[in-house]
Amino acid sequence: MALLFEPFHLRDLTVANRAWLAPMCQYSADDGVPGDWHLAHLGARAAGGFGLLIAEATAVVPEGRISPRDTGLWNQDQVAAWRRITEFVHGQGAAVGVQLAHAGRKASTYWPWAPVSGSVPPGEGGWTALGPTAEAFPGYAAPAAMTAEQVADVPEQFAAAARRAHAAGFDAVEVHAAHGYLLHQFLSPLTNRRTDGYGGTPENRARLLVETAAAVREAWPDGKPMLVRVSATDWTPGGLEVDDVVAAVKGLGADLVDVSTGGLVPSPVPVGPGYQVPHARRVRQAAGVPVAAVGLITSGEQAETVLRDEAADVVLIGRAALRDPHWAHRGAHDLRVAQNWPAQYERGAWR
Ligand SMILES: Cc1cc2nc3c(=O)[nH]c(=O)nc-3n(C[C@H](O)[C@H](O)[C@H](O)COP(=O)(O)O)c2cc1C
Repeated sequence: MALLFEPFHLRDLTVANRAWLAPMCQYSADDGVPGDWHLAHLGARAAGGFGLLIAEATAVVPEGRISPRDTGLWNQDQVAAWRRITEFVHGQGAAVGVQLAHAGRKASTYWPWAPVSGSVPPGEGGWTALGPTAEAFPGYAAPAAMTAEQVADVPEQFAAAARRAHAAGFDAVEVHAAHGYLLHQFLSPLTNRRTDGYGGTPENRARLLVETAAAVREAWPDGKPMLVRVSATDWTPGGLEVDDVVAAVKGLGADLVDVSTGGLVPSPVPVGPGYQVPHARRVRQAAGVPVAAVGLITSGEQAETVLRDEAADVVLIGRAALRDPHWAHRGAHDLRVAQNWPAQYERGAWR
């Protein structure tokens, strides 16, 4: 038996296997509403055998979008559009979560294939981003420093989006506290230089994340899991290290911590096969929570080894799943495991 294709349980949710799709922005929404592209992207990967798909960073408020083309969950049009997608995914026997996000000072930027990069100016479809302070991400426009009232609104913005995620049929939510977006900006001493109760000590810097996770948990049905994605290191002297992040996640009540790294400030990352697996292992051991490992996990054998070594409970597949929507079925084939293929594709299962 392969662990990769064993079911995984979180609260009342049973996921058919431990090969999950990583959240990946598609920069293809109008007014935050997912469309046919999102149905095709997620639908193909549900048919491709992933147990749980995590839909891309989806903004809880319009100003929280990374780009003007991000998806959102701040209105009913978005709920209806997501519902069509979650129903299709469920029809394939897969589960689907959504990553709830606020980009903070990294909001209002151009999508990767735009002819220019950096911040989208107000007047050209952009807006002034919000940050813990007015300090800009290098190369981006300066954000406005958030007022005490604006900070206080954040937990309820995430909670309201979680309620909409439930109405849209999602099985899980993931609070995005990684990659240098708003909650990570508050957590790290490199970007949080506030002097109020949300800045300074590690407890103060974690406060917005703690309050946000609590508000989401309260708004989200008891039987459904809440995941949290963190960056386990800033890869920068003076920034967060894995044990700082362990301390921060311990009190969150997350059912699973999705362990990524980086994104806060530009800095070199030693990228290689499974390069973030040691961080996942450390968070799993030290925080005592189930974790997902992610980052250049590209074959079924490699994923199986991560699970066998008890470095993680599940693996998330990103770019390899862009190359091959059937990555999970291919992995099952390579590991000689019988997976339920869509009836339409069964003839591809063995030969
Ligand atoms: C096109 C693309 C879009 C991404 N968008 C998101 C996102 O919305 N949220 C997020 O947390 N990470 C995002 N990521 C990072 C992935 O979730 C993943 O952590 C990263 O690609 C490393 O895994 P991989 O080596 O399997 O691709 C994105 C990555 C790619 C390639």
